[in-house]
Amino acid sequence: QKLAIGIDIGGTNSVFGIVDHRGVITYRGAISTKKYTDINEYLDALYDAIAPIIEQVGGRDYIHGIGIGAPNGNYYNGSIEYAPNLPWKGFIPLAELVQKRFGISAALTNDANAAAVGEMTYGAAIGMKDFIMITLGTGVGSGIVIDGKVVYGHDGFAGELGHTITIPGGRKHWSTGAEGSLETYASATGVRLTALEFLAKYPEKNSLLAHYSPEEIDSRLIYDCAIQGDILAKEVFEYTGKILGLALANFVMFSSPEAIVLFGGLMKSGDYILNPTKEHMEKHLLPIFQNKVKIIKSELNESDAAILGASALVWELK
Ligand code: BGC
Ligand code: NA
Repeated sequence: QKLAIGIDIGGTNSVFGIVDHRGVITYRGAISTKKYTDINEYLDALYDAIAPIIEQVGGRDYIHGIGIGAPNGNYYNGSIEYAPNLPWKGFIPLAELVQKRFGISAALTNDANAAAVGEMTYGAAIGMKDFIMITLGTGVGSGIVIDGKVVYGHDGFAGELGHTITIPGGRKHWSTGAEGSLETYASATGVRLTALEFLAKYPEKNSLLAHYSPEEIDSRLIYDCAIQGDILAKEVFEYTGKILGLALANFVMFSSPEAIVLFGGLMKSGDYILNPTKEHMEKHLLPIFQNKVKIIKSELNESDAAILGASALVWELK
C-alpha cells in the first residue's frame, strides 16, 4: 500500500503528515512559513523536514504523491497567486516546485477547500452533500461544497469568502487594502486588532489585557482573559461573532447549506465566539432559513482536516 504526504501551508506555520489509505496520519511535523521569505529557502526547509520521514517509511517508492493545501491555492494550475498572508508575492507554481524538489508527483488546492474535503471524508461533514467550511486562522478561508463537490468556479478561485465585505468602509486589510473584509475581523489576526482597538477605546473597563504589551496579545491570551471573567475580552469575541454571524447569514442564503463547519485556531475560543455567531446569523436570515442550518465545530484535530484533505488529492494522481 502506497502512502500520501499531506501538507497544510498556513500563514504562520506549515504542518504535514504521512497518511495512509484509511486516512490515518502517522508521522507529523511542522516548519515555520513566516520565517522563509524566499520561496527557495522555504522549499529547502520543507524538504529537510520531510525527507527523513520519507526514508523512515522506506523511501520515495512508497509515496504515491504529495498533496498541498495552501492559502490562495488554485487546484486548476497547482499554483498560489497573490496570497495576502504568505511571505511570497505574485504567482508561485508551488505544486511544480515541490514536485521538482522532492522527485514525487504533487497536487495543490486551496487550504480551506482541502479542509472541506478532509471534513467530508473523515470528519464532521461525513454524509453531507451541501455545507460550507470556514477556517478561522491567520486568515479566513472557506470551502463551499454543493451537491457533494467542492465548488472551484471558472478560474478556480471560488470560495474566497474571507475577503467578502462585512463592514463597508471598515477596517483596512493589512495586505489587500480592502476595507471591512470578514478576514480583518474574524481571523485570529482580526481578533487581536479588535482587542487592541477596544483597549484604546475603553480604558475604564480595566481589562487584564492592559497588563500585556501589544506584541503579547493574541487570540489565545484574549481567550484566557475571557475565562477569567474579563469583560473586554468577552466583548471582543461578541463583536467578532456579530460580524461572523452576519457573514454566515449571507453565505447561507447564497447556497442553502445543511451546515456550516468551523475550524481553525480561533475555534479554541469555543462558545465565546460560537454563541454570538449563531445568534447573529439567525437574526439576519430570511425566515425560510431560520433554525435550520447547524453551525458545528470540526471533529478533526487541529490541522488534521487540511492535512487529510490535501492528502486526498494524492489518490487522484496518476
Ligand atoms: C486566503 C484564502 C485562504 C485563507 C485561509 C485567505 O486570506 O485568501 O485563500 O483559504 O486566507 O488561509
Ligand atoms: Na476556498
